[in-house]
Amino acid sequence: MNPFLEVAIEAAREAGAILREEFDRPKKITYKGEVDLVTESDHRSEKLIVARLRGRFPDHAIVAEEGSTGAAAGARYCWHIDPLDGTTNFAHGYPCFAVSIGLAEEGQPVAGVVFNPVSDELFSAVRGEGAYLNGKPIHVSAVEKLAHSLVATGFPTHQRKRSANINYYWEFTLRSHGVRRDGSAALDLCSVAAGRFDGFWEFGLNSWDTGAGMLLVQEAGGKVTSLAGKPYQLGGPDLLASNGRIHEEMQQIAALVAASPVKP
Ligand code: IPD
Ligand code: CA
Ligand code: CA
Repeated sequence: MNPFLEVAIEAAREAGAILREEFDRPKKITYKGEVDLVTESDHRSEKLIVARLRGRFPDHAIVAEEGSTGAAAGARYCWHIDPLDGTTNFAHGYPCFAVSIGLAEEGQPVAGVVFNPVSDELFSAVRGEGAYLNGKPIHVSAVEKLAHSLVATGFPTHQRKRSANINYYWEFTLRSHGVRRDGSAALDLCSVAAGRFDGFWEFGLNSWDTGAGMLLVQEAGGKVTSLAGKPYQLGGPDLLASNGRIHEEMQQIAALVAASPVKP
């Protein structure tokens, strides 16, 4: 197995076990912003993952949501870590959250793992080697039209009153089988990779949210760009992921909403 992926999987499973155990206990919640929650579990998970990665790859940079860092930024390899993606779900006892660990080489994702410790689903990918769920290959869906699709999105916890996404939600809801809002961008991307969702878009995601999931979608045969169809860079302002077949249609709807964002 790819040595980077092997270490990432070990770390994701160990961190996931911590989250799974703490999920059943009362949570100690603090606030990073108005509705931006963080729990002790976010920190415990991050500490473990970072210790494992630093121990094995001391020359690699690390960008982790709760602030841990590794070697100097500018290193050839950089790990993008979300120790608990779906903190709001976790804090409310809604079992939809994951550990996300992505590795980028000179800015391009090359390995990624997303682990949901409740469903015990481990999504993994290495550039050029396909995407897997619990070791079995996965592929994006074959749905050809937005009208026949199930898509997903998410809403930011920072400056949420400034987000125009509700207008996109409105339009996509009326033009598809429905829009899901599950609260874990990493799992949303994995659901596109596994063909459960046909498309996903969101604004304001960070590199730790998408570093692993973006590669999962690409390796499962899907497409990841900005909403305008430009190359998506980790941490870019908006992201569109799909099975490829409905990509252009989703781009067109996004352009339509951007041109007339106000709804009654
Ligand atoms: C959040 C989740 C959510 C997305 C938010 C993210 P967190 O991450 O991925 O689905 O809509 O934009 O911030 O805070 O739970 O790690
Ligand atoms: Ca996140
Ligand atoms: Ca998080």
